[in-house]
Parts: sequence; structure tokens; C-alpha cells
Amino acid sequence: MASVEEGKSKVLVVGGTGYLGKRIVKASLAQGHATYVLRRPEIGLDIDKLQMLLSFKAQGARLIDGSFSDHRSLVDAVKQVDVVICVISGVHFRSHNILLQLKLIDAIKEAGNVKVH
Ligand SMILES: NC(=O)c1ccc[n+]([C@@H]2O[C@H](COP(=O)([O-])OP(=O)(O)OC[C@H]3O[C@@H](n4cnc5c(N)ncnc54)[C@H](OP(=O)(O)O)[C@@H]3O)[C@@H](O)[C@H]2O)c1
Repeated sequence: MASVEEGKSKVLVVGGTGYLGKRIVKASLAQGHATYVLRRPEIGLDIDKLQMLLSFKAQGARLIDGSFSDHRSLVDAVKQVDVVICVISGVHFRSHNILLQLKLIDAIKEAGNVKVH
């Protein structure tokens, strides 16, 4: 496991390929934090998202597989970090994902190791 410099965190970005998420991933990497990005199986063959995830990886991010439909995978993802930043899309004319975040909060509570979320 890579060591993390003093003052640096292990940051998990959820929603990393989104409008805000991609900027947060880049900022976290630029600040030298060990940066993890959730890779959801639901993105399927979305080429834009897959390319973005590969680009994050090339820039030093680590991809963690996990799904909001798989509680265990969220707990396992959260256990690897000490900061979680969730920037999944909220209320939209096509979707409503705010309540999904409660699943992430449940995983954070179960994992028990996260300092900031
Ligand atoms: N954009 C803005 O200017 C702005 C300003 C203020 C506040 N906000 C708020 O910030 C949050 C993020 O906004 P955004 O514009 O960055 O959103 P976005 O680009 O529309 O979507 C962000 C991410 O949400 C994830 N997502 C979408 N549907 C999902 C689902 N069913 N299950 C799990 N994850 C799902 C995807 O993550 P993956 O990468 O995993 O596919 C997607 O990349 C929202 O709550 C928004 O209201 C946005």
C-alpha cells in the first residue's frame, strides 16, 4: 500500500466522472492526496466515462469498483479511505438521486473509519 504524506488524506470521490466530480478528482490529485474514484458497473460501455476513468488512473488515481446496489461494495470502498466526497447528481428533470446518498451514509457508518464526508 502506498504511504500517504503527512497532512494528506485518502480521498474517495463518488460521482467522479460528473461535472463537479471530475474537477474534484483533478484538484485532489493536484494537492497530492491519494485519490480514489468509485467505478460503478452501471456505467456499462459509456465510452466517455470509461475514458475519463482511465485518464484519472493515468494521472495517479485508483479506481475502486462499487455500486449503490451493493452495500458490501460501498463499505469495502469506504474502508480504504479517510475522506469521502459524494458529488452524484441530485434532483434533475430526468432523475432523483438524493436519497441514494443515504446508502453511502449507511456504508460510512458501518465502515466506521471515515473522518470527513
Ligand atoms: N453542476 C453544478 O454547477 C452544480 C452546482 C451546485 C451544486 N451542484 C450539485 O452537485 C451535485 C453534482 O452535480 P453535477 O452537475 O456534477 O452532476 P452530474 O454531472 O449530473 O452527475 C454526477 C455524477 O452522478 C453520478 N450518478 C448519476 N446517476 C447515478 C445513479 N443512479 N447512481 C449513482 N450515481 C449516479 C454519476 O457518477 P459516476 O461518475 O459514478 O458515473 C455522475 O457522474 C448535484 O447534487 C448537484 O445538484 C452542481
